[in-house]
Amino acid sequence: MSSAEDTFQDSSSSSPHPPSSCSSPPPDSHFIGKQKDIVEAGRVTKLVNGCRDVLVLYHQGQLHAMDMCCYHSGGPLQYGDIEEFNGKLCIVCPWHKYKITLAEGEGLYQAVDNPMAKPLKTHWCSKGVKQRIHKVTEVNGDVYVTLNNSSEATESDVYQTERYRTLLLNGQSKRSKR
Ligand code: FES
Repeated sequence: MSSAEDTFQDSSSSSPHPPSSCSSPPPDSHFIGKQKDIVEAGRVTKLVNGCRDVLVLYHQGQLHAMDMCCYHSGGPLQYGDIEEFNGKLCIVCPWHKYKITLAEGEGLYQAVDNPMAKPLKTHWCSKGVKQRIHKVTEVNGDVYVTLNNSSEATESDVYQTERYRTLLLNGQSKRSKR
């Protein structure tokens, strides 16, 4: 187990996946922070294991963890609103409003039933899993993340590079200087 190396942002809000609760941290898990601090902040981002930018968020009594950068174009999900679509809690990317389920990392979109019909009728569809979701565990008030190391590629993997992280950090620091 190792501790998370970096934190670049907190904000406010809460999230839906129940963290598993154990008497000791799972093997290969990474310490994120104190549960009370994460609950208070609502959202915390960490570079985990020196290789993965992860967003941990608390919403409606539950903790969730996912890749921090949106699968579509790398948007900073830590600034997204959380809303329910089709019965599923989603984070809405602040850049182009893509909706990503907190539980599975699915991309959701609204399809039009018949473009000729008036008024238009739509229904929700899934693009499948696009954002990598990680496992959260709470142990005696400490929160840990176990990285999802599935070898199956997930679109959000594309933004887990040192180059992109630097770009994002530079953008954030420019924004904070304004
Ligand atoms: S970068 Fe997230 S919707 Fe485009």
